[in-house]
Amino acid sequence: MSADYQVIDDVAVITLNNPPVNGLGLATRTAAVEGLDRAAQDPAVKAIVITGAGKAFSGGADIREFNSPKALTEPTLHTLIRTVENSAKPVVAAIHTVCMGGGLELALGANYRVALPGAQIALPEVKLGLLPGAGGTQRLPRVLGLETALDMIVTGTPVLSDKLAGTLLFDELLPAGSDLVAGAIAFARRVAGVRPLPKVRDRQVGHPDAAGFLAAARARVKVAAGPFPAPVECVETVAASVEKPFEEGLKFERERFIHLTQTTESKALRHAFFAERAASKVPDVPADTPVRAIRSAAVVGAGTMGGGIAMNFANAGIPVTILETKQEALDKGLATIRMNYENTVRKGKLAADKAGQRVDLIRGTLDYADIAQADIVIEAVFEDMDVKASVFRQLDAAMKPGAILASNTSTLDLNRIAAFTARPQDVIGLHFFSPANVMKLLEIVRGAATGKDVLATALALAKKIRKTGVVAGVCDGFIGNRMVEQYIRQAGFLLDEGALPQQVDAAIEAFGFAMGPFRMGDLAGNDVGWYIRKRRAVESPDLKYSKTADLLCEQGRFGQKTGAGWYDYQAGDRTPRPSPWVDDMIVRHSQDLGIERRAISDEEIVERLVYALVNEGARILEEGIALRASDVDMVYLSGYGFPLFRGGPMFYADTVGLPTVLAAVEKYARGYHGEAWTPAPLLVRLAGEGKSFNG
Ligand code: NAI
Repeated sequence: MSADYQVIDDVAVITLNNPPVNGLGLATRTAAVEGLDRAAQDPAVKAIVITGAGKAFSGGADIREFNSPKALTEPTLHTLIRTVENSAKPVVAAIHTVCMGGGLELALGANYRVALPGAQIALPEVKLGLLPGAGGTQRLPRVLGLETALDMIVTGTPVLSDKLAGTLLFDELLPAGSDLVAGAIAFARRVAGVRPLPKVRDRQVGHPDAAGFLAAARARVKVAAGPFPAPVECVETVAASVEKPFEEGLKFERERFIHLTQTTESKALRHAFFAERAASKVPDVPADTPVRAIRSAAVVGAGTMGGGIAMNFANAGIPVTILETKQEALDKGLATIRMNYENTVRKGKLAADKAGQRVDLIRGTLDYADIAQADIVIEAVFEDMDVKASVFRQLDAAMKPGAILASNTSTLDLNRIAAFTARPQDVIGLHFFSPANVMKLLEIVRGAATGKDVLATALALAKKIRKTGVVAGVCDGFIGNRMVEQYIRQAGFLLDEGALPQQVDAAIEAFGFAMGPFRMGDLAGNDVGWYIRKRRAVESPDLKYSKTADLLCEQGRFGQKTGAGWYDYQAGDRTPRPSPWVDDMIVRHSQDLGIERRAISDEEIVERLVYALVNEGARILEEGIALRASDVDMVYLSGYGFPLFRGGPMFYADTVGLPTVLAAVEKYARGYHGEAWTPAPLLVRLAGEGKSFNG
C-alpha cells in the first residue's frame, strides 16, 4: 500500500505513503482512491482527512513514472482529484513540509485545507517546460487571486505557507510544532455538517482589472521567457481561469499541457532533470558504498581557483585552510575572498553576519603541518607537472591516513599525479570551473587506482557544496575541456577561412550559448590556451590550429585583464568592441596562408562549432571517459553555457538526427583542415543503426 487508511472515531485519515516525497504514482493514486471509496461507504465516517507521511504532504507526480504509460493509467491524477472534489463527505487536506505540483493540485481539489507553517507551496512544472496539468492553473487563481497565482505558476518558485496565511488557500494555519493530523481532524469535525460543500471550482477569480493585468503579464512574460514556450502558455492558461468557465478552462489547460509535453524545449528540460540525477550514479559504485566523513578541508594554492574552491567549503559550513608558499600570495588570496563576500553582502545576496561566519571558517597557512588533519585537500597550484609533483609528494608525507588528496588540474594526467604518492587510492580529480564559487559543474576525475569510497565521497561532497558532480575518466581535458578544444579549433579555422570573431560569437550566441568562443577567451584569458598549445606543440606536433590566437597573444592581447583581446575594451567596461586591429590581423593571416576568404553563413558556424562538440563527445563516450551521453550533456549545460532549451550537445544531436549530423561531419571533412572531422566511430555506428546517443 502506498497510502494508509485509518478511521479515528468518525474521521477517515488517508495518509499518502510513497517515500521520499509521496509522489503520486499509480499505486499511491490507487490506494488514495480506494481510501476515498471506503470512507464514502462507511456510514460511521463523517469527514475525510488527506495527509502525507514523512517529509512531505506530496511532492507531486512520481518522477519514476515520467515518460511511462503508468502516468496515464487509471486512476490518473485527474481522476483522483475529481474523486476528492466530488466526495459527498467533506475532505480536508492536511498540508506540511512540501506541497508541490500534483500535490498542491490534489489539495486544491479538497473542500478545505489546513496547514503547518513552513510548508513549501509550489507549482514548479514550468521548470520542466510544462504547466500544471491537473487543474492547478484554474484552481490556484481562485484561491490566491490572479497576481500571486500567476507569479507562482510562471516562475515555479516555492512560497512558504506562512506567507500565504490569510488567503483562501488555507482555511486554517496551525501554530508551528502542533500535531497536524489532530488539528485537521478537529477542523474536519467542526465542518462535518456544513452543506453545501465548498469547492474551489465554484469561486470566481477576483481582480479589479483582470484584462489590463493579463495584457501586461503577457507582454512581460513573453520577453522574459526567451525561447521557452512554457511560461507563455502558463499565462494563457491562467488567463483562462478568468476568461472561461471552469470546465472549459480545465479542458484548455489539458490541451496546452499536452502540447507542451511535445515541445523540444520541455523534452530538453526533462532530459536535463534526469541527466542531473543520473550523473550521481556510477554503475560499479553502489549507492550504499561507505563514504568518508568530510568535516574539514584544505586547499593548496590561493590563486583564481583556490580561493573560489575554499569559499565552497565555507559556504557549506566546513572549515577550510588554504596553504600557499609565500605570505604575499596568501594575503592576496585571502583578501580576494573577503572582497568577494563583501560584494555579495553589498548586492544584498547574503547577510553580513553570515558572510562574517563564512570568512571566519577560512584560514591561511604556509605550513603543511597545519593542514595535515584535514579530511580532504584540493590542490590548485600552477598547471605544471613538476609543481604538482612537489605538492603531492609533500601532501603524501604530511596528510593523515585516509585523507582524500584531490587535484583541480584541468588537463594533466591524474594517474601520474597519483603516482607521486604512496596512496593512489586516495587520489582523485576535482575539476572546478571558474569562478569556482559560482559555477555549478564539478568534474570528478576517477583515476585508475581511485578507491570506490573516495569516488562515492566526492559525489556526496558535490551535493553538499551544491555542485553538479559528473564523473570523468582520465584523458587530456577530461570531458568538457577536451570537447571545447575541438570547438575552439573550429572557431579558429573559421577565422582563417573568412569569418571574424564578432560574427562567430553572434551566430553561436543566437543559437543560445551564453557566450561565443572569442568572448569566452577574452573572459578566461587567452594566455591560458596559449600556454596549453605550447605544451601540446611539443607533445603532438602534428595537431593543427589556427595561428591567429598565437598572433593575438604575441601582442599581449590576453583579454579583459589586459584591456584587449579578440575585442577591444574600455577601462572599467567589459563590453566587447570589435577591434579593427584584430580584423586586419585575421585578414592578413588568411593572405599569408594563401586562402581566399569567403562569406561564411551563420548556419555553417553553428554546425561546425556544435558538431565539433558532438563528434568529440561521441569519442569520449566510446572510450568510456564519460559514463553516459547525458553526463556529457550535463557537463555542457552546467559548465559551458550550452543552451538549456537544447538539452546539451548529445541531446541536440539526437533531436537533429544522427544521420544528418554525420552527413555534415562528412561534408566538413572535405573542407579546410578536414582532418579534424574524422567521424567518431560511435556516431557512424549509431547513425547507421537509426539510434540516438541518449537511447
Ligand atoms: P593561479 O595562478 O591563479 O593560482 C595558483 C596559485 O598557486 C598561486 O597563488 C601560487 O602562488 C600558488 N602556488 C604555486 N605553487 C605552489 C605550491 N608549491 N604550493 C602552494 N601554492 C602554490 O592558477 P589558477 O587559475 O587558480 O589554476 C590553478 C589550477 O586550477 C591549475 O591546475 C589550473 O589548470 C586549474 N584550473 C584553472 C581554471 C581557471 O579557469 N583558471 C579552471 C579549472 C581548473
